[in-house]
Amino acid sequence: MASANLLAPSILSADFAALGEAVRACEAGGADLIHVDVMDGHFVPNLTMGPATVAALRRVTRLPLDVHLMVERPETFLEAFAQAGADVLTVHAEATPHPHRAIQRIHQLGLKAGLALNPGTPLEFFEPLLPELDQALLMSVDPGFGGQEFLPSSLPRLKRLKELRDRLNPLCRIEVDGGIHPGTIRQAAQAGAEILVAGSAIFSGDIVENIAALRRLLEG
Ligand code: DX5
Ligand code: ZN
Repeated sequence: MASANLLAPSILSADFAALGEAVRACEAGGADLIHVDVMDGHFVPNLTMGPATVAALRRVTRLPLDVHLMVERPETFLEAFAQAGADVLTVHAEATPHPHRAIQRIHQLGLKAGLALNPGTPLEFFEPLLPELDQALLMSVDPGFGGQEFLPSSLPRLKRLKELRDRLNPLCRIEVDGGIHPGTIRQAAQAGAEILVAGSAIFSGDIVENIAALRRLLEG
């Protein structure tokens, strides 16, 4: 869908002891979505949040909660995250032998469904599922940690993904995640990214100012 770009702060880089305040600042700054990075210590070498955190966030914001599941066998957890109040659930193609079943289950639960691919995964993995996706998430770093550098190979991948998307499902939004900051955000958007996830670039320093600066670059 040809729509304005959306900014999705990733709370992975926020102060976990003050998540409510961080999310309220994102809302005040005009963020469009709150991106929640769920990691299981197996699919990625890090542990983060679960449904309890999503439920707590649900109580402090009306922004859509964009939950990025970096967990093996994500189908095990879909119901718990739906009950916790997630709006979008994104699973990794590499994390389950049944991504199609997971996407269908997410829709049955009444949520938007996303599929994510790691930087080393062929883009063709999107193809069979694109007609059913609400979001196609292209990782521009290897998932697991905030604050990594944007991989330049992501730009041609975004362009190819946009071609696929335009052909197969114009309603699906393209999301990019990893290394988005003032030096990369415009290029990523120009290459086709419509939902821009940013963690360290938003939560180091003044959240409202950082969001405004990224927004200016997107719209300028
Ligand atoms: C990485 C996560 C990202 C991460 C982005 O595994 O999926 O959402 O928080 O952080 P930055 O913007 O700092 O690269
Ligand atoms: Zn993420």
